[in-house]
Amino acid sequence: MRYLIFADIHGNLEALQAVLDLARNKKIDHYLFLGDLVGYGASPNEVIEVISKLQPLSLVRGNHDKAVAGLESTDMFNPVAATAIEWTRNHIQPESKEFLVNLKKGPVRLGRSLTLCHGAPFDEDYYIFGEFDAAEAFNHLKTAIGLFGHTHFPVVYSLKQGYLEGQLLVGNVQIYLEPEVHYLINPGSVGQPRDRNPLASCGIFDSERRTFELYRLKYDIPGAQRKILAAKLPPSLAERLSLGI
Ligand SMILES: [Fe+2]
Repeated sequence: MRYLIFADIHGNLEALQAVLDLARNKKIDHYLFLGDLVGYGASPNEVIEVISKLQPLSLVRGNHDKAVAGLESTDMFNPVAATAIEWTRNHIQPESKEFLVNLKKGPVRLGRSLTLCHGAPFDEDYYIFGEFDAAEAFNHLKTAIGLFGHTHFPVVYSLKQGYLEGQLLVGNVQIYLEPEVHYLINPGSVGQPRDRNPLASCGIFDSERRTFELYRLKYDIPGAQRKILAAKLPPSLAERLSLGI
């Protein structure tokens, strides 16, 4: 099986299109989305419409999805993020909101080997930012492989015989997943990368070959930026897309 692993689209339709073009070329069997369809970007309804048609699709909600759905207040968000959530709440169509309201809370298990979560297996809102956080996440992981998003940084943590190691993934890379090792993998962000690489980020997990490939993809950044500015969202949300921050 070949799985597309992707997270944190944040209303960026242009970046999503680049990722789905890759998925078509690489013959994906199953789409695994790790939360944050909306927030920040100017195309929340379009993104939800495209995602809702993908088959088969397994997904969990993100903190921005929850907030736009009205399931959480914006108190915990920074001012720019809160402004974008407010904008998205005002522009979301009823059927899109319904889709967000019904998203599953992670962690969600898929078969015997995969767990999907937005933040961490023990808390959907927790950020795994280093080995200390990853150690706690491995304590709660019930499968060999955990997939997470939320930080917008592509990274792989491995746990082999009690030894934990983190590896930031830079550029297009492929890693081999050893059978006796446990992994926590973040495919980076589709629509708002923050690792100073503005290219859209996603991954492909091939369960037969036991490989995870990270892809960084060019997309129409100026187009996404124009929409953000035309929507009167905070201009910094457009600027950051070309900087990858
Ligand atoms: Fe996010």
